[in-house]
Amino acid sequence: MPKQTINNQEMPNNEVFNETTANKTLVLYSSVDGQTLKIINHIKQSLSGDVSVFNIDENPQLDFSLYQKVLVGASIRYGNFRPNIIKFVNQHKAQLDALPNAFFVVCLTARKPEKAIPENNAYMKKFDQISKWQPQLKGVFAGALLYSRYNWWQTLLIQLIMKMTGGSTDKTQDIELTDWQKVDSFSQDFAAR
Ligand SMILES: Cc1cc2nc3c(=O)[nH]c(=O)nc-3n(C[C@H](O)[C@H](O)[C@H](O)COP(=O)(O)O)c2cc1C
Repeated sequence: MPKQTINNQEMPNNEVFNETTANKTLVLYSSVDGQTLKIINHIKQSLSGDVSVFNIDENPQLDFSLYQKVLVGASIRYGNFRPNIIKFVNQHKAQLDALPNAFFVVCLTARKPEKAIPENNAYMKKFDQISKWQPQLKGVFAGALLYSRYNWWQTLLIQLIMKMTGGSTDKTQDIELTDWQKVDSFSQDFAAR
């Protein structure tokens, strides 16, 4: 029987190399204004192999057996995760647990470094309580303050929260608060799994 080769590397005949499941990462996200997706796209650049990205809100039909690891990212609105993300992780706990996995939260409170530590972040604590799935690697990243996208009452609400917590109330300026070095360090941890 002739020897198979992959990238000119000879493979033993008794090993079956399944190209359909080689080094594939499944990435799932829940995002309203796009910052979580921006973070996902940044992380995607540092991952090797195939990366498939799906929006949880579009109810993707997934075959987890095609992937070697999984990443989930979700943003916070009005103090909560959006219902679809919690429903999804609870429904797919077994499949998520079966792969090396990671989860990150995007919110505005994380602009303060002490609140960007998963163990200290109120939303990550909430996730731990309401999610049956407990991720192996956790991250918390500051999102973006996009006054130009908010309607009048969202603007007022965010200005109020910013006033109470010492953030920017200048609605003429959008501000990206994401710490990209922190995202890179999380990506490296995830890539090493
Ligand atoms: C209407 C609204 C409500 C929000 N509520 C919260 C909140 O309760 N706590 C928080 O830390 N951030 C809150 N945020 C900030 C978002 O989490 C932040 O803007 C994030 O970048 C959004 O990510 P996304 O664009 O992927 O949805 C809120 C933003 C909006 C527009």
